[in-house]
Amino acid sequence: MNPSDAPLDSAWGDAVRVLTLDNPPVNALSFAYCAKLLAELHAAHADDAVQAIVITGSHGLFSAGADVNDFQSEMPPNAVTIRDVIAAIEASVKVHVAAIEGNCLGGGLELSLACDYRAATADAKLGLPEIRLGLLPGAGGTQRLPRLIGARAALEFMLKGSSVSAERALELGIIDEIAPSDLLERAKALAKGPKRRISERQAIIAKDLPMQAAPYVVAQAHKMVPPEANGGLAAHKLIDAVQAAVELPFSFGIARESRLFDELVRSEPSLALRHVFFAERELSKIPGGSSFDEVYPERSRGARDDKGIEKVGVVGAGTMGSGIAIAFAQAGIPVVIVDNNDEAVDKARQTVMGMFMYQVQMGRLTQEEAWKRGQSIQFTDDWKELADADVIVEAVFENLDVKREVFRKLDAIAKPQAILASNTSTLDIDALARETKRPDRVLGLHFFVPANIMPLLEIVRGTETSPETIATAFRLAKKLRKKGVLSGNAFGFIGNRMIFDYVQAANALAEEGVTPARIDAVMKEFGFPMGPFAMSDLSGLDVGLAVQKAAGPQAIGRTNVLERLVEAKRLGQKTMAGYFKYDKAVGKGREPIRDPAVEEMFAEEARKAGIAPREYSDDEIRDRLLGALVARGEKLLEEGVALRPGDIDIVYVYGYGFPPHHGGPMWYAAHQRVPVHA
Ligand code: 3HC
Repeated sequence: MNPSDAPLDSAWGDAVRVLTLDNPPVNALSFAYCAKLLAELHAAHADDAVQAIVITGSHGLFSAGADVNDFQSEMPPNAVTIRDVIAAIEASVKVHVAAIEGNCLGGGLELSLACDYRAATADAKLGLPEIRLGLLPGAGGTQRLPRLIGARAALEFMLKGSSVSAERALELGIIDEIAPSDLLERAKALAKGPKRRISERQAIIAKDLPMQAAPYVVAQAHKMVPPEANGGLAAHKLIDAVQAAVELPFSFGIARESRLFDELVRSEPSLALRHVFFAERELSKIPGGSSFDEVYPERSRGARDDKGIEKVGVVGAGTMGSGIAIAFAQAGIPVVIVDNNDEAVDKARQTVMGMFMYQVQMGRLTQEEAWKRGQSIQFTDDWKELADADVIVEAVFENLDVKREVFRKLDAIAKPQAILASNTSTLDIDALARETKRPDRVLGLHFFVPANIMPLLEIVRGTETSPETIATAFRLAKKLRKKGVLSGNAFGFIGNRMIFDYVQAANALAEEGVTPARIDAVMKEFGFPMGPFAMSDLSGLDVGLAVQKAAGPQAIGRTNVLERLVEAKRLGQKTMAGYFKYDKAVGKGREPIRDPAVEEMFAEEARKAGIAPREYSDDEIRDRLLGALVARGEKLLEEGVALRPGDIDIVYVYGYGFPPHHGGPMWYAAHQRVPVHA
């Protein structure tokens, strides 16, 4: 029998000192908190009656890691850091056990790795997400993890940065056991075991690989991540740190890790990614009230998620409606999807079921989960099924009269306290609210295609939308795991209004003789997944033209190239021709192929309009396009459509593929001094 399996006697219980991390809300290990923790550790180490130490967390989690706020300014000379706490654990002869529940992230996990044993509850989540902040684990993680689970697995874990379940952590060897019931009891039992420092082990590559494979594994890892200049800086440094773990004694490796971490903290990409982190957490803080805590002060943090939205209705069974329904089902909220058209309902049923089956094939869902999710979506043509929904999202054809009619009908059917939302991307929310007797409970919820995948949700506040409605929308966004961004009720809201100017700037350059292929290549080089012309082709040029017409007198570009393309039935990817050509044999018909006919069309139209060709450098092309985005962003801030520059950045990073290591357009402009083109 292991010593840890023996029943606990009360004398042993008394000999174990339990230190509980308690720094709400997420037990972040700030300098100030580390000083306190270090003092507690020193006291426990000095107390002869204490034979072992269990470190655990309060507030439902172990720790979210270092306090990211501490990285925003120069470190004070006498700051106590996680590294100091870990050094004290490492130096002690007493056994330390981490008792983990909830999130155990970043420096929190590194702290647990300095302990001799780790026990976790079944619902614990463990991760080293530093890479997402443009950092590497800087409190020994890059040195201890390869010694614990092997360099190959450690690299994969740290480069992904996502957290894993306790079950997976056990499989990987990160934790010693999942506590069947009382976590602290199990941790105390483990504390009876011998001292077991990870730092004293030799790093391995993987169980099935000899040490000679190290250079190959390291080289492969470098190949798998983006180049340093293109968002891969932290990844390459992280791989360097792991290489040090494999090649150097522990103390040398730790020194290398610290130096690389300190370099990254000051790097541009990390500053930008930390801006994104903080901007994300500002989103639901609405000046003048509307944040959930202000509107519902009586509800505690933990209880906020499960009240109020028990059933959702979706009107319109097209692509958007189906995607929205899937998003709700994925969040565990039952949905009823209503459409007058039986064929559309059947098609939606097939799309939704096809999507869940696909997830089963990809191993992301079990058959049982897929079945359960499928069951949580009801398809019908009977509007009365919406009567008990708490939120109803309208996703019908983008036409004001059609949507007005839907809102009138919904107002009559929906229960009085239900919220009515429109998924319009351009139309006036107030015009829809006026059709109802509940304008305070009408708003826009603008999902992005595909709605079940895209992480952005624009929450559009009409003139009369109440703070409670906005607060509920933010809560809903959180349940859907989307970034909810508040927008004023203005044409195109934040994202599409800005993209309109961006596409317009791209067209203006094409009129001056820069090819669409070059413009797209420059923006891809900057880090967008696709350029403006490929993006227009993907969303459909007919859609672009309709938006342009709805926008009023301002055309996309000074010529009518877009009209000519639409007239020629070149509607984009869906017709295998738009600004580019597409060929089923090339990238499954999704790869844009340069089309000289379109370049000639631009030249011809430019000659007619008297636009002279001009030479542009790649930097000028990039700055012209980003400048157009930023100029519109500034206007939206002036007009109060967007609340903060950070909100705009979140819209662009999560909705439009703006490279996060550049922080979003407003951040980039403020830090790189992009010339703003009005
Ligand atoms: N530092 C400082 N503040 C943090 C924080 C952190 N590591 N993690 C969360 N917070 C703050 C948030 O800003 C927010 O503050 P607010 O209430 O004033 O808005 C509050 O804690 C609650 O956070 P969320 O709204 O995100 O709460 P959730 O319950 O949705 O999520 C979480 C909790 C999963 C822990 C999530 O906050 C998270 O992922 N945090 C970041 C974790 C992380 O990146 N850790 C690594 C830090 S770097 C590090 O450890 C370096 C080391 O290697 C040396």
